[in-house]
Amino acid sequence: MTLEELKKKVDLTLADLGVHDEAGVNALFSEARETMNQERQKLVSHSNDPEFPGLVKEFRNLCLARKRGLVARIDENWLKTAPSELRPVVGRAFNNLRVQAEHLYAEESLVRLAQKLREVEAKERPDLTLPGYRRPLGSIHPITRVQREIEDIFLGLGFAIETGPEVETVYYNFDALNIPESHPSRDDWDTLYIDSQTVLRTHTSPVQIRAMEKYGAPLYIVIPGKCYRNDKPDASHSPMFHQMEGLAVDVDITFADLKGTLDFFAKKFFGETARTSFRPSFFPFTEPSGEVYVSCAICDGQGCSVCKQSGWIEVMGCGMVHPQVLRNGGIDPDRYSGWAFGLGIDRFAMMKYGIDDIQLFFQSDLRFLRQF
Ligand code: PHE
Repeated sequence: MTLEELKKKVDLTLADLGVHDEAGVNALFSEARETMNQERQKLVSHSNDPEFPGLVKEFRNLCLARKRGLVARIDENWLKTAPSELRPVVGRAFNNLRVQAEHLYAEESLVRLAQKLREVEAKERPDLTLPGYRRPLGSIHPITRVQREIEDIFLGLGFAIETGPEVETVYYNFDALNIPESHPSRDDWDTLYIDSQTVLRTHTSPVQIRAMEKYGAPLYIVIPGKCYRNDKPDASHSPMFHQMEGLAVDVDITFADLKGTLDFFAKKFFGETARTSFRPSFFPFTEPSGEVYVSCAICDGQGCSVCKQSGWIEVMGCGMVHPQVLRNGGIDPDRYSGWAFGLGIDRFAMMKYGIDDIQLFFQSDLRFLRQF
């Protein structure tokens, strides 16, 4: 029986329908139940549709609406008009049908609930078939890499690593290093002042004094760190750059120790064929002072455009620690002597990797950084 047929039949009485006995009643009711079941089946097939809740309501009204619902009309037209001898049979069949209709509707609510749960679950359950998140691996910045390489060479020689503040007092940055106010070399560092007594350190040398005060002698340290000068950025200048300071203080330290150590270091860093050359220079905090040259790695000292045909490249300043500097650090210059050097880590990295612009280190361009 189709729904349309059932809808017509529920408006007629059992007598109209030619139902006069128990078998006929049971057959009719079972057909009615079957039809309602089919409607429910249709409803279930729409449980994924957005209009599903509306369809459930429609189904409820179809079966259970107070006046025009199938159950109400069956009550009205089949049960109430049934002849008394059929009453018990019709009454039992009607009750079954009513309970079933209510069940069907209640089940539908459950289906809907289950459906909702399934949706929520699907949203929250990770899809294990998706590819994983790939976090890009970072790499060590070339400056850090070269800094560590230099540190490692000196650690191997028994040196320790020491650091100090980048915001430094005028005393440690200049005065204690034997650079009095009037001294012309104070201009050489084009200093960035915080106030009259505070600067951004122009070199790592102030940590020489801090370390002497802190540890006394003997002392073997390297000091990596950022330094600042009021320089216009260009291919070879940056207002922020990196230095590595070296300091050895002990009894009987001579210039020969300085030369031997730095020659060993140059060969470790640039390769065994590297040679060093020491030329006189001046720094207020070392006496005598020197500049260290390394044979050009590009042409092996033959002369090329990088070393300007000289075969040599200047790589650092150095010298024997000035007695006054030892004194300022609380060390007796009559008992102890020492040497120091200072090099630019950025320049070493440029030489090592053949980079011709220091700015590349500080622009965070991944195309550049990915190469390391
Ligand atoms: N501090 C010096 C500079 O920045 C380098 C240096 C360090 C020279 C130690 C001699 C000894 O140029």
